[in-house]
Amino acid sequence: MDKIVVHGGRELSGTIKISGSKNSALPIIAATLLTREPCVLHRVPDLSDTNYMLQILRHLGADVERASGTVTVTAEKVESLAPYDVVRKMRASVCVLGPLLGRCKEANVSMPGGCVIGDRPIDLHLKGFEALGAAIRVEGGDVRVFAPKLTGAIINLRGKFGPTVLGTDNVMMAATLAEGITVIEGAASEPEVVDLADFLNKMGAKIEGAGTRRIIIEGVKELHGAEHTVIPDRIEAGTFLVAGAMCGNGVTIKRVDRDHVSAVTNALAAAGFQIQWAEDSITISPNGATKPLELVTEPYPGFPTDMQAQMCALLCMTDGISVITENVFPQRYMHVAELKRMGAHVQLEGATAIIQGVDRLFGAPVMASDLRASAALVLAGLKAEGRTEISRVYHIDRGYEHLDEKLIELGADIERVKA
Ligand code: EPU
Repeated sequence: MDKIVVHGGRELSGTIKISGSKNSALPIIAATLLTREPCVLHRVPDLSDTNYMLQILRHLGADVERASGTVTVTAEKVESLAPYDVVRKMRASVCVLGPLLGRCKEANVSMPGGCVIGDRPIDLHLKGFEALGAAIRVEGGDVRVFAPKLTGAIINLRGKFGPTVLGTDNVMMAATLAEGITVIEGAASEPEVVDLADFLNKMGAKIEGAGTRRIIIEGVKELHGAEHTVIPDRIEAGTFLVAGAMCGNGVTIKRVDRDHVSAVTNALAAAGFQIQWAEDSITISPNGATKPLELVTEPYPGFPTDMQAQMCALLCMTDGISVITENVFPQRYMHVAELKRMGAHVQLEGATAIIQGVDRLFGAPVMASDLRASAALVLAGLKAEGRTEISRVYHIDRGYEHLDEKLIELGADIERVKA
């Protein structure tokens, strides 16, 4: 297994370009199953997660071509069966359920297991399908969803921890081909949901309200092929902004939507960094003394759970006491034990992390556990004294396109050691 070795202490500066969004690309790739006609997707990031999703589509019978960032999918015929072997590597494979149900009126997909960030149930996805008229059978680790026909309904998808992003995507995709009107109340309003709705509308769907808590879908008889460019990845952007905050002297990220990252830029400005905006770029620079923060993760437009670990790394080295409360995935603190190995002072109380800033972190061998936790360890390694060796970097490759190469462009001393 590859490792990433970081020699800390280098100052970062310069400009990098943000890739297409992983969490937009995954459901958008799945949505191509809704039509027999070719769909052309641009700016699909080259990640192990997007490549798994393309493999799943191939398994289901679609013809897939990739030429750099452009992917063409033609799903002239599709199977409705995705077994464990095919889907187990990635939880987001659950988002083929909606399009298969919409198109074939049936889907047999192995259930995703839990993962290190928590239990991750799909009860809300299934509740939505049931409301559209589908029957659900869970047997032998597989979920079978089937319906002679789908009928529009009013569905509330808000759960105990707020709205569900992939649940909203899944029900929205199935409802595009239902008879009549579906109203999703308590919908997720993340930019990735809006991007998916934009793509579906280009395919001939009739969706209104994406980006708000109520999405209205008027079912159509069939969808057609379409061409779409995936939005820039707001979490990759946020991660590089934190890198710029921790080690930078003027780091600019290009190709970013200002609104999509405002929770992160507001937090960084409150922590004392200077944020300058140009048309589609942001520059972050030091601005004197930094301040501790109190942060709560929330659904969009709140502070994203996918930026919690990276922010934790920054606050570990910010003078004073910071407090982070994780409201979306209360157990998502796998990075804390590893940061402590590097000298961080963090105390966990349930879903809250109390961080006492320290002056120095020290390089150490650490273990990546999930995608964002791994990114946090790379960031800590950039700032730490000495050598940090991060193992299990396949987690990073799931969701950051060329993270090491982009950091080298900014002046980091970081290398990938092939196993
Ligand atoms: N939940 C339920 N029941 C469900 C679905 C979700 O109780 O049926 C709960 C979850 O356990 C969680 C909360 O609702 O507590 C929100 O989960 P959500 O369904 O929104 O998460 P997701 O759609 O599975 C996506 C992203 C995650 C991101 C979350 C929250 C993709 C592929 N994944 O997951 O991204 O953290 O939304 O914004 O879009 C990442 O990129 O590192 C990542 C984990």
